[in-house]
Amino acid sequence: MNARISAALFMSHVPAIGVAVDLARTDEPYWQPLFDGIRPAREWIADNPPDVVVLVYNDHGNAFSLRMIPTFALGMAPSYEPADEGWGPRPVPTVDGHPALSAHLAQSLIPAGFDLTLVNEMTVDHGLTVPLTMMFDQPAAWPCRVVPLAVNVVQHPAPSGRRCLELGKAIRAAVDSFDEDLTVQVWGTGGMSHQLQGPRAGLINREFDHDFLERLVADPEGLADVPNVDYLREAGSEGVELVMWLIARGALADLGGGPPPREAHRLYHVPASNTAVGQLILENSPA
Ligand code: DHB
Ligand code: FE
Repeated sequence: MNARISAALFMSHVPAIGVAVDLARTDEPYWQPLFDGIRPAREWIADNPPDVVVLVYNDHGNAFSLRMIPTFALGMAPSYEPADEGWGPRPVPTVDGHPALSAHLAQSLIPAGFDLTLVNEMTVDHGLTVPLTMMFDQPAAWPCRVVPLAVNVVQHPAPSGRRCLELGKAIRAAVDSFDEDLTVQVWGTGGMSHQLQGPRAGLINREFDHDFLERLVADPEGLADVPNVDYLREAGSEGVELVMWLIARGALADLGGGPPPREAHRLYHVPASNTAVGQLILENSPA
């Protein structure tokens, strides 16, 4: 039996959420509503565990730096250590990879025209570890393997939404042709609206965020044609992280002619630190 994509998950990666868990502050009044809000997602994943997550995220100058920022970088390693982001690495488990699936993805995607950078050794920052914490809390070991796919949304120009959606479609085809019985989820992370610096620091755009969530579910092809400058203007300089969600959306079966996905969970919460938090789960319907 081949591998199959069971669901796409979408969520923000606000570093303060990781800190709240690491420092046992989730019951404080500021945090409790958010952690109540993500509980259904944690219950869902307990019932729908992945063997492997293809985790689409952005690095924040930890594995990479302003010296070198690959547009799409695929992790090939057997494991990834949490990065030291300036205050020491987060107290979370090492992330185990899946080198055979990584190699298969590279062998499928590069001939299909997606010229990925292959990364044999790297650390992973809050962009990758906070979504894991949001879904799995504080396990002794992460309950699944992870294939990291790092996307440049730090230095202009980020890849277009269209390119991201098409990459997602190619990931679905690649996973479907992997000759191992694996349940795979694709997670798109980052966002939602936020801007961390400059005169507009603190920007939140609820209307844009809700509209993005609606269109991500119901109109992904139309959403893919939104230019990146619209994200920057409407959702803030870091709001452009949202283009990564289109990679996960592209990996669902409906965009290859299958039935529409089922929405299992949706959360929108403001604020967490400077950021609007969104979380969405779309299950692939059985063919
Ligand atoms: C915040 C959000 C981010 O996406 C990030 O990478 C760092 C900080 C914030 O809201 O504080
Ligand atoms: Fe970020």
